Amino acid sequence: MDAPPAPWIRAVQGDARDLPGVAPSSVHLVVTSPPYPMIPQWDESFRRWGATTYEAMHARLAEAWAACHVALVPGGLLAVNIGDALRSGSEGFRLWPNHVEVARACESAGFRPLPYLLWKKPTNRPNAFLGSGFLPPNAYVTADCEFILLFRRGGLRTFPRRDANRERSRFTKGERDRWFSQVWEDIRGVRQGRKGDRTGAFPPEIPRRLIRMFSVVGDTVLDPFAGTGTTLWEAHALGRNSVGVEIDRERAATLVSESRRRTVGG
Ligand SMILES: C[S@@+](CC[C@H](N)C(=O)[O-])C[C@H]1O[C@@H](n2cnc3c(N)ncnc32)[C@H](O)[C@@H]1O
Repeated sequence: MDAPPAPWIRAVQGDARDLPGVAPSSVHLVVTSPPYPMIPQWDESFRRWGATTYEAMHARLAEAWAACHVALVPGGLLAVNIGDALRSGSEGFRLWPNHVEVARACESAGFRPLPYLLWKKPTNRPNAFLGSGFLPPNAYVTADCEFILLFRRGGLRTFPRRDANRERSRFTKGERDRWFSQVWEDIRGVRQGRKGDRTGAFPPEIPRRLIRMFSVVGDTVLDPFAGTGTTLWEAHALGRNSVGVEIDRERAATLVSESRRRTVGG
């Protein structure tokens, strides 16, 4: 087998709803984690996006999911890491089920929903719970799982028999057994900095697994909410091309220079 060409990385400053420079049907896999509605860390992001209510926040995200649908090739996959929010509103303490809204919006955008993953973060405080004492009924279940929702544009991708890049992308039986079971319990979250410099980065193992599970060497992977570029760097290391879109100017500039450093050595 000839060696595959060196993968490229492209980072752009822009809005996930527009996906600047990303041609229709040019992406094989989207791996992303958007700002989470109703989580205070992301209030300012949504306010700048003109959204201050839960419904408006999901309406903006819905436009980004529709843009991803256009960007994907038929058979391409979308993986969205999202957590629900717990926050008091006018009616008091409640759950804001972000994963439900994202699933609905993606289906409306034309995606086919697939079985999803639950990322249960290992914790140092296994007994922490919201409530007090041991008397029912007013305590809350600990929300310690995030969702990795999976969708496909249309039917299955097809490949020529013994396609070289697909063969190169094979996973082992052990990997398959661990990765394709619905609950991932062995991945720690990234320690977040102080308020103000929190990035919401996901651990590299999340995009690494998803890229190995749902793309082949030589494919193009998109992250429309690229942040610190975790998806891009993992895609590159795994022989996939990658495109990142990030609205924050400073973060986008860092992504551009880091992409250059990784692809042309400086
Ligand atoms: C949860 S973080 C993504 C973190 C990323 N997965 C990582 O590992 O660094 C969401 C990112 O989306 C960016 N963002 C917010 N609104 C956006 C928009 N309209 N278009 C593109 N990016 C946006 C934020 O600036 C933030 O960097």
